[in-house]
Amino acid sequence: MSKALALVVVLFLVLFCEKCYGELRVGFYEGKCGLTNVEDVVQNVVNTWHIEKKEKDIPAALLRMQFHDCFVKGCDASILLDGFISEKQAVPNLSVRGYELIDAIKEALEAKCQGLVSCADIISMATRDAVVLGGGKWYDVETGRRDGNVSLASNVNLPAATISVSDSIKLFASKSLSQYDMVYLLGGHTVGIARCSLFKDRIYNFNNTGGPDPSMSPWLLAELKGKCPRISLFFDNTYPLDVKTPSLVDNSFFQEIKRGNGVLQIDQQIALDELTKNIVDDIVSDPDFYTKFGEAMVKLGRVEVLIDGQGEVRKSCRVVNEKPFIFGGFH
Ligand code: HEM
Repeated sequence: MSKALALVVVLFLVLFCEKCYGELRVGFYEGKCGLTNVEDVVQNVVNTWHIEKKEKDIPAALLRMQFHDCFVKGCDASILLDGFISEKQAVPNLSVRGYELIDAIKEALEAKCQGLVSCADIISMATRDAVVLGGGKWYDVETGRRDGNVSLASNVNLPAATISVSDSIKLFASKSLSQYDMVYLLGGHTVGIARCSLFKDRIYNFNNTGGPDPSMSPWLLAELKGKCPRISLFFDNTYPLDVKTPSLVDNSFFQEIKRGNGVLQIDQQIALDELTKNIVDDIVSDPDFYTKFGEAMVKLGRVEVLIDGQGEVRKSCRVVNEKPFIFGGFH
């Protein structure tokens, strides 16, 4: 190839790469479903479910679902696959919810354009819409993901609430997410709840001391003691992760962890650890928190994605597509 031609090719790629087929990009579905705007369909279903209260606290349900999907084999909707040994059955996923909402969105999209929109993209778009419903700011979602066809509980290696800040930073780094991204993403705990069993040791027997975690504020300690009795055989009560505004996507979670009101150990630790406390301090006084949270969500949505030629676009988010039977074998 002559030097001039090579230059033209490079220039073309630089100028038009955003449009390259097979890349994640904003507006991937534009013009691909006739007059239907795919993102509007998703948003309408999320809004309807929210208004009709068909699922409680949709922002919390979907934020957690997206995190649990993307951190196990990438953002490929493997969390949605049914099965006795699929990811859904792994212990950390037993309290993940929102599957029926995703089914409803998929159904609405299939009715308009069959086999077009991947379940992995549905999770990302619906989570963004839920964040907006929760009071957060709109962010453009990249699309173009394809769905995976492997989902095994044994692949689920999600962090426990007791993970240290440095181990958590390493884990996020392994997904190409910085410690800034990690802290912003933990801001997902601005909504939703946690079960007492996951933080009870902080109240009654922190690090086998027989006493509470000293980083917890006296107020939170009294609250949690009231809600989470030392012994409860039949009930696992819950407590909000953001003690102030548990249903709002805002930065009060960060204000509260600064006051010693972090419910999960990792949440409290990011406000105290030298590695992350400055980031938390910045967020508390950052008027642009909402934009940066959206940017971090977009980065989460890029983790180990399948793109053009890989995976498939599932017809139902719960099962992989049937393989066609051609010339004596499945292909
Ligand atoms: C080191 C990272 C993380 C750890 C250790 C962690 C841990 C946890 C734990 C233990 C719970 C309570 C689960 C239960 O009670 O069954 C929880 C809930 C939740 N997490 Fe995380 N999480 C992390 C990161 C994230 C991220 C990045 C997001 C989203 C961007 C997120 C969103 C949520 C939400 C929204 C809930 C509440 C779910 C509900 O109300 O149903 N988490 N998390």
